[in-house]
Amino acid sequence: MKIQIITLFPEMFPGVFNASMLWKAQDKGIAEISYINLRSFGIGPRKQVDDTPYGGGDGMLLKPEPLVAAIEAAQQRTAYSVQRTGDKTNPKAARSTLNAQRSKVILLTPRGERYTQAKARELTQYDDLILVCARYEGYDERVTEYVDEQISIGDYVLTGGEIPAMVVVDSVVRLLPGVLGGETSALIESFSDGQNLEYPQYTRPENFRGLKVPNVLLSGNHAEIDKWRKNKSE
Ligand code: ADE
Repeated sequence: MKIQIITLFPEMFPGVFNASMLWKAQDKGIAEISYINLRSFGIGPRKQVDDTPYGGGDGMLLKPEPLVAAIEAAQQRTAYSVQRTGDKTNPKAARSTLNAQRSKVILLTPRGERYTQAKARELTQYDDLILVCARYEGYDERVTEYVDEQISIGDYVLTGGEIPAMVVVDSVVRLLPGVLGGETSALIESFSDGQNLEYPQYTRPENFRGLKVPNVLLSGNHAEIDKWRKNKSE
C-alpha cells in the first residue's frame, strides 16, 4: 500500500512511523509512506497557504489552490507509480489503471465521519491512500469537493490533522497481511468484530504481589479456556 500524506509539518511523522510495526511494514515493502509538503504548493514568493475568512471571524483558513494542487500532485504520483510498473501482465497494476477507485483521498477533520475499526479494515482494500492534514483554524470548504471521504478520530478538536493521520495509518497498516507477528492477533483483539472487547490476558509470574492468574488459564483445559475467554469478551 502506498500512503501519501499532505501536510505543512512532515517532520511530525518519522518518530511515530520509523519504529516498531510501522517501521517493519515499510522495511518489508508492505507499506510505502511519503510526504507532500503543502508549503511547496503555496502561492507567491512567500508561499502563502492561508488567508482570512470571507464574512469575517478569527484566524486564517487554508486556501483551496495549494491544497487542491497538492491533492492532484499526489494523484499523479499514484498514476505514475502504476504506469512505471510497465507490467501489463501484472493484474494488480492493470486493475489499478482501470479502476481509479483503488485509491482514496481522505481529509482529516473533526467534522468527518467517526473513525472505527470497521473503517480501518475497509481502507486496507486500497492500493493508495492520500491523507490530507488540515491546519490552523480550518480550510476553505471547496476543498471537500476534491476528497473522497472526511474522517474524524473522535469528538474533540486537535490542532491539526497530523495526529489523526498517524492514527489512521497505524490502524490500517497493522492489518495489512504480513505486518503482525501472530497472524491471528488482529482478529482476536478488541473491537475487531465491532462489538466485543478483547478478553484479559496474563503472562508470568503466576502470582504478582498477591494478584493471581485465573485458575482456568492454568488448567490446560482448552474448551474451558475458550469458554472463559468468550464470556469475558462479551
Ligand atoms: N483535526 C482536528 N481535530 C480532528 C479530529 N478529531 N479528527 C480528525 N481530524 C482532526
